[in-house]
Amino acid sequence: MTTKSTIYQFCRALPKIELHAHLNGSLSMSILTELGCMDTSIVRYMNLTDILNKKERALDECFKLFKVAHDATNTPDSVYIATKRVIEEFDHDNVMYLELRTTPRSEENMSKQEYIESVIKAIKENDKNITVKLILSINRSHDMKNSQESLEVILNMKKIFPDIIKGIDLSGNPNVGKFEAAIFKTAKENSLYTTIHCAEVKNDEEVKDILNFGPDRLGHATFLHPRYDGCQENWQLYCEKRIPIECCMTSNVICGTSESYKKHHIQEWIKNGLPFCISTDDKGVFCTSLSEEYEYANEFFDLSKEDMWKVSLNAVDYSFASNAEKLLYKSKLNEWKRDNENLFL
Ligand code: IMP
Ligand code: ZN
Repeated sequence: MTTKSTIYQFCRALPKIELHAHLNGSLSMSILTELGCMDTSIVRYMNLTDILNKKERALDECFKLFKVAHDATNTPDSVYIATKRVIEEFDHDNVMYLELRTTPRSEENMSKQEYIESVIKAIKENDKNITVKLILSINRSHDMKNSQESLEVILNMKKIFPDIIKGIDLSGNPNVGKFEAAIFKTAKENSLYTTIHCAEVKNDEEVKDILNFGPDRLGHATFLHPRYDGCQENWQLYCEKRIPIECCMTSNVICGTSESYKKHHIQEWIKNGLPFCISTDDKGVFCTSLSEEYEYANEFFDLSKEDMWKVSLNAVDYSFASNAEKLLYKSKLNEWKRDNENLFL
């Protein structure tokens, strides 16, 4: 019988695929404590009450929170520990494949290259039941010179670690800066997959440019469907391209870009059979987990256990893994289903 508790159990046990997780947004309270973060800073990092009280500026408030995490990860050692622990926590939540993304950052005692090397060291040492790939982010608020410099480092590192560095992302406060197609075109030409935070706020012109560029995946896509303040022309373009979107329900609800879980735009994708995956975005800042996000999909959009299993299976196809790896994860999911028939009841 399907009850709240069997759904809870199912969502935790399901082998999951996480395709949208920012390293410095994923630091839990225990990771921040291990990194020597003061209690007062941790409260600031996770202070959702403050954000929810500032409803109309919630998105801008969210972006200020990352400063706490960035201060705690400003040396190669702390970046290494943060990455290691985040991987362990996703593994603990039965995530079998994780595409972790992070913005290469230079600090007083660390270059962008050293930052990436620390993340990769933790990924290479991972001996858990989880495969981890890396997506490197370009912050949209950075100027072209800074972004080009990041791209150069990313391309050099990709030559050394082609099995780990799989893609490039555009993120950062959507109210600041813009999408620069040239950076992503070069990345694509150098065999990097691309994923772009898109339509987090209403910006039809930029959404059109992003869709015309045609990234491999889109983050959020909140203001894209006409019922969600998007324009018909972009929606038509989207439906032709059918680019998988990375849905992060809790993040959108807390940032105030979605009115509520019930009114989340994911329902348009479900209803129209369009490609999506379920993700956490920043599990630390938003106090969530991938299992919880699946639970919300069940609670608010009636996804059955079978549906949720299919969401996980589909996410394999949308991932930046190789074809051989995709076959392996799909067979693991099929095997898990065969061995856990009782969980589907
Ligand atoms: P980092 O890249 O590992 O430092 O992770 C934190 C960074 O991810 C933030 O400073 C933002 O640039 C980016 N980020 C996290 N969540 C979001 C989001 O919802 N939209 C856009 N950018 C985000
Ligand atoms: Zn994001």
